[in-house]
Amino acid sequence: MAFNLTVNGRSMTADVSADTPLLWVLRDVLNLKGTKFGCGIGQCGACTVHLNGQAVRACQTPVSTVNAPITTIEGLSTNGSHPVQQAWQELDVPQCGYCQVGQIMSATALLSTNPTPNDAAIDRAMSGNVCRCGTYVRIREAINRAAELTRNNSSKESL
Ligand code: FES
Ligand code: FES
Repeated sequence: MAFNLTVNGRSMTADVSADTPLLWVLRDVLNLKGTKFGCGIGQCGACTVHLNGQAVRACQTPVSTVNAPITTIEGLSTNGSHPVQQAWQELDVPQCGYCQVGQIMSATALLSTNPTPNDAAIDRAMSGNVCRCGTYVRIREAINRAAELTRNNSSKESL
């Protein structure tokens, strides 16, 4: 069955069965390999993408239920210039890197609804994203830094 999807602002079609997880469609059909497969059971957050700006687990989202634009890490920016990506680079957050796409997508979704999260809000929003390398402290610092970069960018734009 053919499903029409909007991914990173582009219309795309996937001819798959209705219960195919969005993660499979992104990686294996649309060749967007940035989103990672971790546990496959909604427990690790490695597969996090945005559906209409909200963080969802692509491994737990059947393609037939998708009725809003999807953003993957490939669509966050064309050149790594998104404030969250900049902060991640500045603070050298990743260790092995495997979980980091999911972390960045969750962090971005958080900052879009709460531009100045405190540590408790950060921990709450990020609690579904597991990092087996234990980069949690740097992740929290990077989210604070991304919030600061976003504020700086907005005040420059308003000058
Ligand atoms: S792969 Fe989806 S939550 Fe782990
Ligand atoms: S950086 Fe290795 S799992 Fe998070």
